[in-house]
Amino acid sequence: MAKHTGLIGCSMFILSLLFAATEATEYNVGGSFGWNTPPNQTFYSDWASSKTFFVGDSLVFNLTENQNFADVTMADYNSCSTNTDPFAGNGPSRIVFTVDLLHPGPRYFISTVDNHCARGQKFSINVEKPFSFGPSPSATPPSINSALSAFLSTIAVYFFTRI
Ligand SMILES: *[C@@H]1O[C@H](CO)[C@@H](O)[C@H](O)[C@H]1NC(C)=O
Repeated sequence: MAKHTGLIGCSMFILSLLFAATEATEYNVGGSFGWNTPPNQTFYSDWASSKTFFVGDSLVFNLTENQNFADVTMADYNSCSTNTDPFAGNGPSRIVFTVDLLHPGPRYFISTVDNHCARGQKFSINVEKPFSFGPSPSATPPSINSALSAFLSTIAVYFFTRI
């Protein structure tokens, strides 16, 4: 009986690891600093490069007064200029705005207030496919998913035959 309990506990542990791996994460952009005129030019790029973003995750922009952000192209990101309308913001009060990352690939965000973008209120991210651990989305074989499920069903069969 004790042996069976151990096996069940072990399979529960594996399952909980899997759920943890697929859980969507909400990222507060800029951490506790929020979305504000940064202390230096690399503040937001440093923040973004310290994380790995997956499809299903979301970015939460905590806008302080008179701040905004725009979801732009790479060219606009590089030049800090855009014709894209900014999202909510520029107002007298604080606003929390959530961007859901629904597709894999690069995303670019800038502030369009004054020269904030040039001062570093900008960042880019690459949204990875779920279970993609490779450096680039195209380099990641879809077989990781099937290899994983084959592995899991092998484990499941093993546990069920033992119990
Ligand atoms: C930018 O500012 C942040 C927060 O004050 C600090 O942790 C970081 O080291 C600074 N980076 C540079 C390059 O000065």
